[in-house]
Amino acid sequence: MTILNKNPESEFAAERAFVRSYLDRVPAQCTLPDARANEYREKIRELLQARDAVLVAHYYTDASLQALAEETGGFVADSLEMARFGHESPASTIVVAGVKFMGETAKILNPEKTILMPTLEATCSLDLGCPVDSFSEFCSRYPDHQVVVYANTSAAVKAMSDWVVTSAIALDVVEHLTEQGKPVIWAPDKHLGNYIQKQTGAENMLIWDGACIVHEEFKTRALESMRHLHPDAAILAHPESPMAVLEQADVVGSTTQIIKAAVERPEKKFIVATDAGILYKMQQLAPDKEFILAPTAGEGATCRSCANCPWMGMNTLENLYTSLLNMSNEVNVDPELGRKATVPLQRMLDFRKSLNAG
Ligand code: 13P
Ligand code: SF4
Repeated sequence: MTILNKNPESEFAAERAFVRSYLDRVPAQCTLPDARANEYREKIRELLQARDAVLVAHYYTDASLQALAEETGGFVADSLEMARFGHESPASTIVVAGVKFMGETAKILNPEKTILMPTLEATCSLDLGCPVDSFSEFCSRYPDHQVVVYANTSAAVKAMSDWVVTSAIALDVVEHLTEQGKPVIWAPDKHLGNYIQKQTGAENMLIWDGACIVHEEFKTRALESMRHLHPDAAILAHPESPMAVLEQADVVGSTTQIIKAAVERPEKKFIVATDAGILYKMQQLAPDKEFILAPTAGEGATCRSCANCPWMGMNTLENLYTSLLNMSNEVNVDPELGRKATVPLQRMLDFRKSLNAG
């Protein structure tokens, strides 16, 4: 394997500074009193019907949004299933509660539909850390490589790629390419890239130096201590976590895969290394089990994003209501870019179908 980030401080300094500056602009969260929340829920229900709209929420969004999506015939899912559901739903408007790349993916796959988001400001450190200009300049140095990008990227990055994958399917796709002897450029998450490289044994894999600011916070030593305190617990981790965390995990998988493991495994207790929003679904599906969030910082330390994606947290009942009321915050993707990005996205969806059929 060749890893790109031999000298990350210099080669990727601009991307890192950009991610940091963006994070400072994320507004603080506010919570609504119950009566106000109920009022919003009622109005949103009515508007969803009136607008022929369906709500699709990611597992990391606030529990109130996940519950509303379920109660109104929408869907709560990982990023792969969100893309599939939006594609197959008959509704003419899809409201995506999640982050920018999820809204863009919905628009790319459904150019004829209206895609709304509660906020257009919610982005992702992986998307920010992989600007199309520097990424395409990099790829141009390796023209024989298959460019495989994580769904957490801009429409422009997707449009210049051969494959778009989510964490649920990344391992299978790279395994498939490796079996065919194809060299791979992987971007942007280095932890997921390193994990895939380790699992597949891919020798010819170049890995971009991006990271998720939420999963990067999980701490190895503190996790070891937690495991000693709870020897009967299994550890579930999202592959955006650092390798030393993944090495301690009993299950590594996408959000859907680790929820499934929580339901199906015999343990009654789980230490969970991913965004806290996932606990809503875990507790709903396995109410007799105990879930403990993996530690995000050593003793006395503070962190900006302790197991809570600040961008996912920007989705609220209030801004969901406003966007439906005014049909505002519409996601638009340049049609030409969208057409190009459909190819690697559709490749992933077809590959998923063939895996399920096989
Ligand atoms: P999933 O594809 O597992 O839903 O993850 C998306 C994401 O942003 C994780 O941080
Ligand atoms: Fe991006 Fe991490 Fe937030 Fe997922 S949790 S949307 S990868 S910043």
